[in-house]
Amino acid sequence: MKVTIVGAGAVGASCAEYIAIKNFASEVVLVDIKEDYAEGKAMDLMQTASLLGFDTKITGATNDYSKTAGSDIAVITSGIPRKPGMTREELIGINADIVKSVASSLIEQSPDVTIIVVSNPMDTMTYLVHKTTNLPKNRIIGMGGALDSARFKYRISEALDCPASDVEGMVIGGHSDTGMVPLTRLATRNSVPVSAFLSEERINQISEDTKVGGATLTKMLGTSAWYAPGAAVSSLVQAIANDQKKMFPCSALLEGEYGLNDLCIGVPVILGKNGIEEIVELELDEAEKAKLKESSEGVSKTNGLLDLKK
Ligand code: 2OP
Repeated sequence: MKVTIVGAGAVGASCAEYIAIKNFASEVVLVDIKEDYAEGKAMDLMQTASLLGFDTKITGATNDYSKTAGSDIAVITSGIPRKPGMTREELIGINADIVKSVASSLIEQSPDVTIIVVSNPMDTMTYLVHKTTNLPKNRIIGMGGALDSARFKYRISEALDCPASDVEGMVIGGHSDTGMVPLTRLATRNSVPVSAFLSEERINQISEDTKVGGATLTKMLGTSAWYAPGAAVSSLVQAIANDQKKMFPCSALLEGEYGLNDLCIGVPVILGKNGIEEIVELELDEAEKAKLKESSEGVSKTNGLLDLKK
């Protein structure tokens, strides 16, 4: 199993690190445009192999896509991250050109690759890859919901003062401060709805804190977060690599599901060796449906800023 990660910045390198620690891939190639940067990160990570006990071979390449040939899965993290006060949508101009060219270079070397898009604004960048490549729709996946759900579970575990492993919960909708739809009604602690333990006010606060999860960290760190994004990507990569048939909310191209069309947005999907093997249609209540609809309008508006004729 060969995995390429484009962008050896903090998110890309964390993702490589978690993939290596989980020890399921034979090879990870890190690619970056900065001379020697990916090679340096790869060497540093490889020097942890004997300490951490993994066998995954990590290599680096400076913008040389021939090194990525035959990749089964590729992760695109390239582009500029947001700075404090910026929305993910403000990154569209620069990142669209980068993501489009990276996707085409990857597919040239690995025509059967499955691409996971992380670059922001993520739902729109995922849509761009659908619109500008010939990859089948199940092989293009946007990473947002897995991260947002992990942040949601963290906030719930904080409120309940319990381990996050006791908590189940999911965030659907767009990966943006206003677009996320944390499904509080379905969140549980060991199968018991969280509403049995927490007031409505506290649950609403958890929901609001989840939606600005990325912005909160960007403000604290001066740049966008990397540990949870890297871990979330590594879980998606592992689900595909090991054909796990696991369910994650991911940004998927919708063609009628949830009453939505011609956009990529976070919905639960089953991930296995073929990428997105199924889109799971949940029975949403009226309020959740309205929130998802509103979120989809925001994503479509951002998609409208793309110049697809270029
Ligand atoms: C986040 O931290 C990377 O968009 C990403 O939310």
